[in-house]
Amino acid sequence: MVATDPVRVLVTGAAGQIGYALVPMIARGVMLGPNQPVILHMLDIEPAADALKGVKMELIDAAFPLLRGVVATTDVTEACKGVNIAVMVGGFPRKEGMERKDVMSKNVSIYKAQASALEQHAASDCKVLVVANPANTNALILKEFAPSIPEKNITCLTRLDHNRALGQISERVNVHVSDVKNVIIWGNHSSTQYPDVNHATINTSSGHKPVKELVSDDNWVKTEFISIVQQRGAAIIKARKLSSALSAASAACDHIRDWVLGTPKGSWVSMGVYSDGSYGIQPGLIYSFPVTCEKGDWNIVQGLKIDEFSREKMDKTAEELIEEKTLAKSCLN
Ligand code: NAD
Ligand code: LMR
Repeated sequence: MVATDPVRVLVTGAAGQIGYALVPMIARGVMLGPNQPVILHMLDIEPAADALKGVKMELIDAAFPLLRGVVATTDVTEACKGVNIAVMVGGFPRKEGMERKDVMSKNVSIYKAQASALEQHAASDCKVLVVANPANTNALILKEFAPSIPEKNITCLTRLDHNRALGQISERVNVHVSDVKNVIIWGNHSSTQYPDVNHATINTSSGHKPVKELVSDDNWVKTEFISIVQQRGAAIIKARKLSSALSAASAACDHIRDWVLGTPKGSWVSMGVYSDGSYGIQPGLIYSFPVTCEKGDWNIVQGLKIDEFSREKMDKTAEELIEEKTLAKSCLN
């Protein structure tokens, strides 16, 4: 067997709820596969330093065979040194009754500061996934304040919304979730996102059938389904009094795994990536598109037919991102 060099994976906000669910998944190979050793870099802030130490102790106690080292620190420079993958979870979560915009001012300043640390100390080909909200706009700020990191390497998490859409279809049609594919989340990781099933299919004993044919209730697809997926984060906060954590951590692993190892043939996933103008979306915004991944690179799926209903929803969520960008910049001034 050829020895594989460990991959250094940074998790910021590692003492928080998502961090606590995410680091054991990474150490078990859920993110990078069962043969890839990892070194975990965990960053949190001073008030969480003891909790962070505790997480490190538990990682040691779990004796994960793939885990080759743990850096647990409150020093952003030490945390970013040589990292190949950065999962940016650090920040303040939304509480009941708050919109993502409400956490904007606190979180965008963190992303401005951490952009420089990543730019200076991470590996030059580091892949960045922003999870903390407002995820698209934090990623945009990170991209603007780390100009030497290639734009293609900065992404945000909308895979959780994508997985939520798969889950809702699977419940509705009563099929296994792994038989549903090619839903799309367009736009912002917020309540304006547009979950689109126009191109989605279900694997049945007689081949792949369009979701729209098997659901056979266009009204449900255009109203209840969209609203359930858009509001799922808020519904979880209402039920748990805390925002989603295990599903967010799992989606972060899915996002990085598919980005690094590739998407299956004939399937795409949703990722928040910088817009190159595809589908008429303002270039430079971090917008969720359907993408395929190969050899560590993502590409936006081209040529999908967009009807009027979709166009309107895709533009509405783009408008919110343009507003968030202006608001973020005013918070930083
Ligand atoms: P949490 O409060 O449990 O944990 C956040 C952690 O970040 C805390 O330990 C905090 O000390 C730390 N932190 C704060 N400022 C930091 C900084 N400057 N550097 C490093 N660490 C810092 O929150 P959580 O539930 O783990 O959620 C984290 C973020 O993820 C929130 O913004 C939440 O809204 C977001 N979220 C996004 C998605 C998504 O799909 N994109 C899903 C769920 C949650
Ligand atoms: C989620 O989608 O669960 C998170 O982004 C939490 C939130 O604020 O909605």
